[in-house]
Amino acid sequence: MSNLVRLNKYLAECGVSARRKADELIAAGKVKLNGKIVRELGVKIDPNIDQVEYAGNLLGQEKKIYIMLNKPAGYITAVSDDRDSRLVTDLVKVPFKIFPVGRLDKDTTGLLLLTNDGELANRLMHPRYEHDKTYQINLQREITDAALERLARGVELEDGMTAPAQAKRLGEKKISLTIHEGRKRQVKRMIEVVHNKVVSLKRVEFAGLVLETLKVGEWRFLKEDEVKILTERSLS
Ligand code: URA
Repeated sequence: MSNLVRLNKYLAECGVSARRKADELIAAGKVKLNGKIVRELGVKIDPNIDQVEYAGNLLGQEKKIYIMLNKPAGYITAVSDDRDSRLVTDLVKVPFKIFPVGRLDKDTTGLLLLTNDGELANRLMHPRYEHDKTYQINLQREITDAALERLARGVELEDGMTAPAQAKRLGEKKISLTIHEGRKRQVKRMIEVVHNKVVSLKRVEFAGLVLETLKVGEWRFLKEDEVKILTERSLS
């Protein structure tokens, strides 16, 4: 699925000019789309994929934005996809080329950061920094204390032992797990090792930020102090 907007609307959202004037700029050949002058009025673009240039500046790049989304199930953490899947970026309509920080499985819900700050995103995703990620997990079967302890100590996966984690009981079939690694399907695989199965998985914390009251599918800009937390964590 795409996130198409009319080019004149996009220029207006980026603060270039009002929409009508934006049409004049387009007709006058002052706007480039993916490196080529575009004169066609009514052309639509995807701010997450297309590059729009006006007066030598790439639009939507100057300002860094940081967004927290409560990801719904059924959306993939990518900015484009060949199979017409629903994308997390479809849910956040901003005139910026944003991308998700890290991955959540299609059926996972919860805290996902999106930004156009590539440098910060790369640092946050780098395994060296080992940011905590907390998941709330509904399980198919009751879980024993012994299984919780095993998850906390670390379990053997086909790509090696998992690092010590924090595992807490929230109910008979509900736990929270805090890990700092980010291997593919890590939580689901860890749960399989203790002979159980994830029914639903929700991330509630990432790198010191918490999801709190954001409803599923809703997003908000990070507050200044939250951006500061991320910046400090990705530098230390
Ligand atoms: N672990 C998983 O198994 N899936 C996710 O989406 C995130 C962590």
